Amino acid sequence: MSNTAVEDLDGLFEQAGHQIEEARDEQELEEVRIRFLGRKGELTAFLRNLANLSPEERPFLGKRANEIKEEIQEAFQRQFEKFKRTNLSRQLENEKLDFSLPGRAIPSGALHPVTLVLREAKEIFRGMGFQVIQGPEIETDYYNFEALNIPPEHPSREMWDSFYLEEKILLRTHTSPVQIRVLEKIPPPLRVISAGKCYRRDSVDATHSFQFYQMEGFLVDEGIGFSHLKGVLSEFVRAVFGGDRKVNFVPSYFPFTEPSVEVLMDCFKCAETGGEKQESCRICGGGKWVEILGAGMIHPFVLRRVSCSSRYTGFAFGLGIERIAMLKYGIDDIRLFYESQLRFLRQF
Ligand code: DAH
Repeated sequence: MSNTAVEDLDGLFEQAGHQIEEARDEQELEEVRIRFLGRKGELTAFLRNLANLSPEERPFLGKRANEIKEEIQEAFQRQFEKFKRTNLSRQLENEKLDFSLPGRAIPSGALHPVTLVLREAKEIFRGMGFQVIQGPEIETDYYNFEALNIPPEHPSREMWDSFYLEEKILLRTHTSPVQIRVLEKIPPPLRVISAGKCYRRDSVDATHSFQFYQMEGFLVDEGIGFSHLKGVLSEFVRAVFGGDRKVNFVPSYFPFTEPSVEVLMDCFKCAETGGEKQESCRICGGGKWVEILGAGMIHPFVLRRVSCSSRYTGFAFGLGIERIAMLKYGIDDIRLFYESQLRFLRQF
């Protein structure tokens, strides 16, 4: 038996064992496997060589070589599995979720002051039995003017100049057209409020905007008189600005109401300082009475146009939401409502 062949075989076995142990990762291990067991590998070459050995040597070396091959294969297998396990635990380690990390807070927004006032006003009128109805922002000349007793050449049109989309189609300048739309469809008795955006061809300054929010309200029933108007609107003013507000009704003019009034309240700021007029008062400018809204008994022409029976009378009112918000929160410039400045909005 050739000693060299046995030594070669033992040498291969030993080398393979070393290299398997030294392989640092699966790739290196695979390279080692190819070096020994691949098609051109050293052990493969040895096995192929068995044919050249003498018949006496062949059985022993053949058996030994196959045993070694199996042992080497098993060693590879063990090592591969070891790598697989460490890889898996490393992966699990890397992907571990840290439940103690605080979450990323999503800052919550808040309601715009105009929305706050709108909601408050709706709640107050709902409490008095009014239902909320929505009207369109794009109106016809008929609903915005004519049906409200404002004929084409009427000078009051100047107060309500609008943006025209077509000759007789415009952005509504007030919410009063909703009165007509509702009365055309729903027979009295009725208590309705309707709020939304209005547009006017106004130059923008601290108290004017080409776009603003208005709330319309009207009540039509049998036997409705001016005292009902006074009762409902006093109730509203006191609900928003405090139970001890004094409310005043002064004659005014609107084409769609007769008589028409301006509703005023005493300045709550001046009232705080004992009812003394404060010349520098931010709210009333020393005038003491603050204008809150316009109102009146619905003009018979208006009711007749929508074929409302003469058994019915009613009152109507219109209020500027921004104006109420400005008074309520002490805001001195209407433009602040539309500029989306967080420093302003965060205060509400
Ligand atoms: N529409 C009026 C305006 O924009 C406000 C108004 C006044 C509405 C009197 C009414 C009312 O319903 O009766 O100036």
